Amino acid sequence: MKIIKATDYDDLSRKAANIISAQVILHPRSVLGLATGSSPIGIYKQLIDWYNKNDIDFSQVTTVNLDEYVGLSGNDPQSYRYFMDTNFFNHINIDKSKTHVPNGVAPNINEECARYNDLIQQVGGVDLQLLGIGLNGHIGFNEPDKEFEKLTHMVELNPSTIEANKRFFDKIEDVPKSAISMGIKSIMQARHILLIVNTDEKYEILKESLFGPVTPHVPGSILQLHSNLTVIYSCNKTL
Ligand code: F6R
Repeated sequence: MKIIKATDYDDLSRKAANIISAQVILHPRSVLGLATGSSPIGIYKQLIDWYNKNDIDFSQVTTVNLDEYVGLSGNDPQSYRYFMDTNFFNHINIDKSKTHVPNGVAPNINEECARYNDLIQQVGGVDLQLLGIGLNGHIGFNEPDKEFEKLTHMVELNPSTIEANKRFFDKIEDVPKSAISMGIKSIMQARHILLIVNTDEKYEILKESLFGPVTPHVPGSILQLHSNLTVIYSCNKTL
């Protein structure tokens, strides 16, 4: 495990973007596992900036996103597909057909989960997985539970996750109650995992995840077992 303390959010975003950029420059056909939420926005901005300066070429890159809300189509501004398009994909030279997000309005969600698992295999697995973490330790939408869910699955979101995500919606009732999430096994099979944490309020859960017991009650704790984990954090306290 490599732990890097960033001085602030801009520094964190640049450092993480440097790692993603190096991955793509060294391996232009990389498969990137991507995340949504507040944490990665600065990274995507930085990568777009370097793309505009001709420093990075995404034309051969494939992406697979961690999750999507059930019930939201890709045209819905609250969907994760829309988030990825507007915050990243629309601004770079990626082939959109190689960008993958679970389909939240698939007629059969179980079949969609199976399709997504197959897809991750078909693209050869994830080379570099970008992860944020929830206040309750969730990664992707793998919520605290009695056991780790291995593969892509439908998940009922925890009240605390719904509460945390209501900031993106007009009112809390609009936050979907379920999502499709890549499973823990798929995340752990990524060849490199890059975890980013950028708020002081997440310091305790980050510490618990990295140094506490490995337990499905703190999904992020499984990351301790990954052989190539990089953590970049920007918090007042030092790990
Ligand atoms: C997003 C995802 C989530 C977020 C986590 C942190 O695709 O899978 O696990 O990474 O909820 O979200 P932010 O960055 O908004 O604090």
